[in-house]
Amino acid sequence: LNKKEVVEKILKDSLCVAKNKQGVYFAPANIALCKYWGKRDLELNLPQTSSLSVSLGHLGAKTTIEELTDSKETMDEIWINGKREKPNTPFSKNLKNFLDLFRLTKTCVYRVKTAINIPIGAGLASSAAGFAAVVGALNDLYAWQLAPAELSILGRLGSGSASRSFWSGFVEWQMGIREDGMDSKGHVLTEQWPALRVGMLILNTAPKPVSSRVAMERTVSTSPFYTAWPAKQAVDLRAMKEAIAAQDFNVLGSIAETNALGMHSLMLAAKPPILYSEPSTIESMHRIWQYRDQGLSLYFTQDAGPNLKLLFLEKEAETVKSLFPTLEIIAPFGEK
Ligand code: DP6
Repeated sequence: LNKKEVVEKILKDSLCVAKNKQGVYFAPANIALCKYWGKRDLELNLPQTSSLSVSLGHLGAKTTIEELTDSKETMDEIWINGKREKPNTPFSKNLKNFLDLFRLTKTCVYRVKTAINIPIGAGLASSAAGFAAVVGALNDLYAWQLAPAELSILGRLGSGSASRSFWSGFVEWQMGIREDGMDSKGHVLTEQWPALRVGMLILNTAPKPVSSRVAMERTVSTSPFYTAWPAKQAVDLRAMKEAIAAQDFNVLGSIAETNALGMHSLMLAAKPPILYSEPSTIESMHRIWQYRDQGLSLYFTQDAGPNLKLLFLEKEAETVKSLFPTLEIIAPFGEK
């Protein structure tokens, strides 16, 4: 199956004829606590394992989309935070290819305006929120009235982690087993955890040297340890859901940390190796472990870059901020 066939399955007879003048949607960014690393289908972004994330509340992407009917433009107009994006950047090309899945006619051209309020250069996978917001905005523009789970499948076709960006709170992306991926979609957990805090520890804002797509493929095909990953992930995921249900922060934090380190260890063994950490990343990890030895409940997770995301509870926020003064602190469930 290719992406277009999946889109046709979901949209069935809902033609892409604009019902509204423009479509609008906000999608939150999300941080994986149990990581998605490795695909079983590269075309449809079907994962090798399920994963679990926490959404970042009001931080994310808000997209407005409209069809340019009476313009002479032959290319999509893409705006990010008020600046027109050049059509030949990798980002524009990616988005154009994604929008191609939804165009009724070859001549349909879109104006897409996205406002991203994630701290600039946070090294956050803003593509998850970005693709989710585009899908949500198309759903609004064309009045498809799709449920979040269906939007999740469409978002996944843009970027795997986008499948988790259609809800706030804890979201599990269930891997599914079907070849067409119709059962590979997000699912929101009912638990809330208002005291949970995520801190963005920005160490380097330069673009990553290896994209997560390329790094994942290389890990799956060359890392001798990859075969151990699905089993570890299943154990971690089950234990993490129990920790969330029991509101046991130390269990949640330690699973999140070992899960991220496990993912990075797979990459170290890939050929050629992939090492996203920098000296400042390692130094910060040692500091976090030292503070923890001294009794502070502080953990980290790391994605495909050198920055860390710190996990702690509201009652430790002041202490953590004094130890990491540049930290951007986010309350995923809102301030109490
Ligand atoms: C480390 O979702 O960006 O952040 O599906 O190729 O677009 P593609 O990958 P992407 O990968 C995210 C990887 C991660 C872990 C996670 O978010 O689960």
